[in-house]
Amino acid sequence: MYTNSINSFLSHINKLSCNALEVCISAAKEYGVNIYLIGGIVRDLLLEKELKDIDITVEGNAIEFAKFLESKKNCKIIAVQENLKTAKVRIHDCIDIDFASTREEKYLSPGVMPEAYNFGCDLSKDVKRRDFTINTLAIKLNEPGEYNIIDYFGGLQDLNDCKIRILHPKSFSDDPSRIIRAIKFKKRLDFEYETNTYTLMQNYLKQINQSIPLERIKHELCSYFSMNKNNLYKELINTNAYKLITDNPVIKIEESNICKIKKYISLSKKEQWFIYIIFLLVNCSSIPQRLNLDSKQKKIIQETKEMLEAEKTFDNFEIYKLFKDKNNLSLLAYYVLTTDENLIKFIEELKDIQVLTTGHDLIALGLKPSEYFNKIFDKILKEKIFNGIKTKNEELEFVKSLL
Ligand code: CTP
Repeated sequence: MYTNSINSFLSHINKLSCNALEVCISAAKEYGVNIYLIGGIVRDLLLEKELKDIDITVEGNAIEFAKFLESKKNCKIIAVQENLKTAKVRIHDCIDIDFASTREEKYLSPGVMPEAYNFGCDLSKDVKRRDFTINTLAIKLNEPGEYNIIDYFGGLQDLNDCKIRILHPKSFSDDPSRIIRAIKFKKRLDFEYETNTYTLMQNYLKQINQSIPLERIKHELCSYFSMNKNNLYKELINTNAYKLITDNPVIKIEESNICKIKKYISLSKKEQWFIYIIFLLVNCSSIPQRLNLDSKQKKIIQETKEMLEAEKTFDNFEIYKLFKDKNNLSLLAYYVLTTDENLIKFIEELKDIQVLTTGHDLIALGLKPSEYFNKIFDKILKEKIFNGIKTKNEELEFVKSLL
């Protein structure tokens, strides 16, 4: 099934990347080191999916190889990470390639970054640190003629069978963020969990250690929820993967409501994951410290709670007050949880209404600054909402009539 795509694999990569790879291949031959495409790029190449980043694993020291590459025309090292012995090289001013040294890893405690050792080891050792069989496939680049798939764990069979399979029983307890990666690949590739992998996932989630750090899990959630796929939240709930974040019973939502409200409120791709964090946490009495949310994110959750607790109203002034100055994420989450049409009314009819009169204007009219100012501003607002006054002059005339 894959022979054709392997033999012509360079033709699946755009011309510029292809030229850049040829530069790497010829440098590796000259330098005398084996280099491999490995992980996501091989998986996606075989599945004929769009290719994202180009990652090359060097069976040796990737930084030294990058330096050798830099001695060639049009190659520039743009980043180096000494501790992991990785380097990023820009080729022909436009193609960035990440080079990693082969390495082994051991987990000193669950959820934290593993300790790397034995840099430059055989590829057969490097692949053992990876998450799923479908991510262990490699293509040796400096092989003359044909490109063959190197497959130590039966990843090709799993790719054929559309299965997500971990490499060893401790995989999820070593790195629980792999649970989110599993659901990510399931949804992204439309694959299934291999039975034993699913059982191990469930076993881990049943006796989950609620003190594991959440940094890596947050990173994976962000990547998961930025996918353009249906029922992402449902998968998180149905697989119990949400338990990585909270052991509170979670709210179910109708995901189609997200599409409905997105016609009115747009979010950047970066913000998107946080709506789901709101759904997970809006019912919790306190936000888990481990999530390390910043004050803006905490405020968004608090704001959403307050809107949910507010009494239902049919008064446009109250509607305005409820939704004005709220973060888009809070508004979006609120709508999905309530489908309150008042929010649509606010967006369509009320949100641009603004009091133009300032405190200085009131002082100029002879008033002394006091709490009464806020009452006046509210009265102006009501007048704008209910009686349609628009200009600042009309507002000032109205204030004078009050005095
Ligand atoms: N990996 C892992 N465990 C993790 C994260 C990554 O074992 N928690 C391994 C996987 O084998 C993966 C490789 O590191 O193939 C590179 O990680 P990343 O770039 O995140 O994975 P991709 O498979 O390329 O994912 P994506 O397509 O989303 O970029």
